[in-house]
Amino acid sequence: MVDASAKFYTAMRTRRSVRHFSNQPVPEQVIRNALLAAGTAPSGANLQPWHFAITTDPEVKSRLRALAEEEERNFYNHRASDEWLQALAPLGTDADKPFLEVAPVLIGVFQQKFHFDAAGNKHKHYYPAESTGLACGLLISALHQSGLATLTHTPSPMKFMNDIFQRPKTEKAFLLLVVGYPAANCRVPDIKRKSLDEFTSTVGAVTPALS
Ligand SMILES: Cc1cc2nc3c(=O)[nH]c(=O)nc-3n(C[C@H](O)[C@H](O)[C@H](O)COP(=O)(O)O)c2cc1C
Repeated sequence: MVDASAKFYTAMRTRRSVRHFSNQPVPEQVIRNALLAAGTAPSGANLQPWHFAITTDPEVKSRLRALAEEEERNFYNHRASDEWLQALAPLGTDADKPFLEVAPVLIGVFQQKFHFDAAGNKHKHYYPAESTGLACGLLISALHQSGLATLTHTPSPMKFMNDIFQRPKTEKAFLLLVVGYPAANCRVPDIKRKSLDEFTSTVGAVTPALS
């Protein structure tokens, strides 16, 4: 068990958000398996309040890039607070998103706040954002374990994603996952991760629950 947990951590610590992708195609079965893994996520009352919409179509990707860059230009030039821009500065991100056309696969993630049963009755979903976030974590981990890179992209606001991915207005765009191999010259920001002590704590007596 210790070995398995260490192997998993060793693999996951090499995951990085990539912003320079190769246009090399990726195996369809890897994407399908990663989506199946995402679908195993826990969810409030097991209502599985997520939808993943996939595109590999250059025309769809190009429209998506145009709309995302429009929103991002507005964000970087007007909407973002100085504090937010300062937090983003070390990452070197800007309103240009060429990877949206270069990367082979884009996955639009949507959360469903409710659903209708066969009789047309509306049923509320519980913790849809938390549940969809957990499914995305599994998806990103599965893709990384398979050797593919991702970027978690949140163009803000994301409403235009419903049109592009042909999803109903009742679903809320959650994030856009960019998937592919990193470009040969890909570089990532030199960021630090918190140490275990910085982001965890223990409370109460140490008991034999931990051997
Ligand atoms: C909810 C969320 C939204 C994000 N949105 C963006 C984004 O819109 N554009 C971007 O370049 N990176 C985005 N990122 C990626 C983060 O910048 C990145 O995860 C962080 O800098 C840590 O780097 P790492 O993923 O390589 O460990 C987002 C990440 C998360 C979890």
